[in-house]
Amino acid sequence: MNDKNPLILIVDDTTTNIDLLLDVLKGQYRFGVAKSGPRALSFVQKKRPDLILLDVMMPDMDGFEVCSRLKSDPALADIAIIFITALTESKYILKGFEMGAVDYITKPFKATEVRARVQTHISLQRMQTALNRQNIHLEEQVREKTALIREMFNATVSAMSLMAESLDPYTAGHQQRVSQYACAIAKQMELPSDKIEAIRIAGLLHDIGKVRVPVSILNRPGPLLKAEANLIRIHPYFGYNFLKKIPSPWPIADIVYQHHERLDGRGYPQGLTGKQILLESKIMAVADVIEAISSHRPYRPAHEMEYAINEIVSHKGDSFDPDVVNAFLECSDKYEQEEIISNPAPLSGPFANPLITEES
Ligand SMILES: [Fe+2]
Ligand SMILES: [Fe+2]
Repeated sequence: MNDKNPLILIVDDTTTNIDLLLDVLKGQYRFGVAKSGPRALSFVQKKRPDLILLDVMMPDMDGFEVCSRLKSDPALADIAIIFITALTESKYILKGFEMGAVDYITKPFKATEVRARVQTHISLQRMQTALNRQNIHLEEQVREKTALIREMFNATVSAMSLMAESLDPYTAGHQQRVSQYACAIAKQMELPSDKIEAIRIAGLLHDIGKVRVPVSILNRPGPLLKAEANLIRIHPYFGYNFLKKIPSPWPIADIVYQHHERLDGRGYPQGLTGKQILLESKIMAVADVIEAISSHRPYRPAHEMEYAINEIVSHKGDSFDPDVVNAFLECSDKYEQEEIISNPAPLSGPFANPLITEES
């Protein structure tokens, strides 16, 4: 006999019954004995049995009460209980099962039957424990792998974002800041967390399509030819084409595709209007314009945030979604002292401003 043998607690107020059960089950189990309900409860606090053989009719506290107390304790509720009693009426048998017992044996019992039932429930209990352990282990593994995949995904998004910006040194950090503005607006609008996550990622990648635009055009400070400007205006489509191949639970590619669309249809590249434009893209549009206007350009210094806000407000309802503009104004007030709204780092680039700039 060793510690790995199942431990059975026999609860009965009659010594003869206890001895009988010990005799029937001897050989492959360890035993604990309690001659009253309170003693049984005290026993399980010290040593956890694999199974309890529980008499019903006992002075002080009957077996049903013992069972009820065990089942109400989350730490003990899954211990298998078999009632073993002289109460043979079906109402008691039903009550026993309803209280959570795994079995109900009536006295007088047959030794072989008791052995078989105990063996069955011990095996089931062990299998259940093994399955629970395996589930916990699998859940831990899934958690670890998910965290790793998320980390890799975020690192990939950051690398793609940096790669896109490396072509145009004037726009360093632009996508990062647009992402921050857009998330602040989305939070202010109380969007669900998965939408905010989509906006965060789309913001980091919204101008990735510019990698298809020649560097000589991107970096030129002066006015552009119409053909050059038109090429730049296709960058949301290029971005969409890159991103649509990446499996994602969110419409990242579509958000990027529509980030220069305007409510009145004067945006690009598709000229969508109103409800045709994703809310996430409407948020991105406001964040993009605010960031671009308030950033430094080679041919002009950065405008004050107030100037950028006036631009947005003056186009509220025709270019920009009123709810999005209002949310931006609210978080602008709320976070006035915070760097993200009041003091963006210098940024420039002739094509970052999609509203009133040279490229449109
Ligand atoms: Fe853009
Ligand atoms: Fe942008």
